[in-house]
Amino acid sequence: ATKHIEHPLSPIEQASIEGISQLPTDANGESSLSITVVGASGDLAKKKIFPALFALFYEGCLPKHFTIFGYARSKMTDEELRKMISGTLTCRIDQRENCEDKIDNFLKKCFYHAGQYNSEADFKQLDAKLKTHEGGRVANRLFYLSIPPNIFIDVARCASSSASSEQGWTRVIVEKPFGRDSASSAELTKGLKQFLAEEQIYRIDHYLGKELVENLSVLRFSNLVFEPLWSRQYIRNVQFLFSEDFGTEGRGGYFDGYGIIRDIMQNHLLQMLAIFAMEPPVSLDAEDIRNEKVKVLRSMRTLNLEDVVIGQYKSHVRGGVRYPGYTDDKTVPPNSITPTFAAAALFIDNARWDGVPFLMKAGKALNNRRTEIRVQFRHVPGNLYKRSFGTDLDQATNELVIRVQPDEAIYLKINNKIPGLGMRLDRSNLNLLYADRYSREIPDAYERLLLDAIEGERRLFIRSDELDAAWAIFTPLLQELETRRVSPELYPYGSRGPVGAHYLAAKYNVRWG
Ligand code: NDP
Ligand code: BG6
Repeated sequence: ATKHIEHPLSPIEQASIEGISQLPTDANGESSLSITVVGASGDLAKKKIFPALFALFYEGCLPKHFTIFGYARSKMTDEELRKMISGTLTCRIDQRENCEDKIDNFLKKCFYHAGQYNSEADFKQLDAKLKTHEGGRVANRLFYLSIPPNIFIDVARCASSSASSEQGWTRVIVEKPFGRDSASSAELTKGLKQFLAEEQIYRIDHYLGKELVENLSVLRFSNLVFEPLWSRQYIRNVQFLFSEDFGTEGRGGYFDGYGIIRDIMQNHLLQMLAIFAMEPPVSLDAEDIRNEKVKVLRSMRTLNLEDVVIGQYKSHVRGGVRYPGYTDDKTVPPNSITPTFAAAALFIDNARWDGVPFLMKAGKALNNRRTEIRVQFRHVPGNLYKRSFGTDLDQATNELVIRVQPDEAIYLKINNKIPGLGMRLDRSNLNLLYADRYSREIPDAYERLLLDAIEGERRLFIRSDELDAAWAIFTPLLQELETRRVSPELYPYGSRGPVGAHYLAAKYNVRWG
């Protein structure tokens, strides 16, 4: 019955009402926006970037004069690019009648230019085409580097060599991975900064664009009931859980050079942890938020091998179907020891979190797909209702669960009297299931982040000192794993992962959620 209660507008909804007011304009109030997807022939561009750009167009979030260019080495005509992306576009926001028209109108704004990533001449040709579309208006240019990181710097050099108009801006979105460790990340940052100012670099972590991750600060700082409990005094442990029920399918070549710790923990899970654990920022300004994130990351202990368990999935036959092991992937070396699973216990050495284990668990080819934050609270002191729970008091502690995906939800496990004449308690959920509460579909993370980059909103992008602090936590561990060639514990495809993870949690008196 409460389904359609008003709620604040999302940035996308806000932008669709206000228009893209932040774009610099000329004396006639005119400006243009050019978005170049570098690596347009690739998986991410097809799966996420073009559909997100279409969703922004569909919602009226792109300005009147915009152009989208795909750029990659593959030979393709404009028509071929349009054909390639048209199959991925859907009017998923709602089923308005003019979807086909919208798709056609969007595709008319999409073009392709084939070129090398290290050729200034090829980028000059792109620049000439962009200028034609910009038609002499103030040119604002966004480059999305959807390419392997070893060519980021070449592209930054070439893209920055063909300048946009003086009044407009040039911004570059950089996809992860931002290096493999502290040294390579610093080198990448140094390389990019030869050609771009820090303000032009938008390091994307798409988890920061997920609805429930954005909501984390709202939950903490706008509800009186949570923030007073948000410390070692009341919280026993916090868990950041990521699992996928499929393997590295198709991405084994990339994955083998990185592994799950670099692919998920050092970025997606650590970013959620930083927002979860940071001190209240002075304001919602990007720099104030990022200052707090850096502070909390720098208060974290570097991770020890004793606090980590790694695993790798092996093949498994279930119901007559054989599920492949990680090393069955043709792009993965047969003797690979790259972890596809890791569990870790992390600590923040500051006054708020002293001694509280922050546990992370991330794995591919597990028994389900989910991303959650679980906050387990301490026991109620002198619990009057001890007897009603028998000996397992752990079962009686409160737990707050923030389910990032799928089926976005926030729920709080509480103890409740079972209705009736006796005094029996059970565990029930105070449950906010997004699908029941909000009727609209949740925008994809890439939509929010692309819109933010267009608007120059940097709150959800990673600053270089944040990145340094994040790598500092994981680099010694990653080096030790590699120099000692630590073998991962094998686990069957589709299982709950290595048993070692349970021992790690037990060491800190934690039960995985
Ligand atoms: P791809 O491997 O599909 O590469 C994108 C494009 O880059 C390719 O189509 C190819 O285009 C070009 N390319 C690939 N390898 C090389 C190479 N060795 N040298 C030069 N050019 C190359 O990557 P994705 O699309 O999967 O990912 C793009 C970026 O986004 C990567 O940094 C990836 O780590 C990151 N990412 C990807 C995610 C995903 O789900 N796919 C998720 C999160 C991040 P052409 O040959 O036509 O030039
Ligand atoms: C990417 C990782 O960053 O995130 C992938 O490289 C992973 O390995 C993906 O599958 C998960 O993203 P999402 O949004 O599907 O949970």
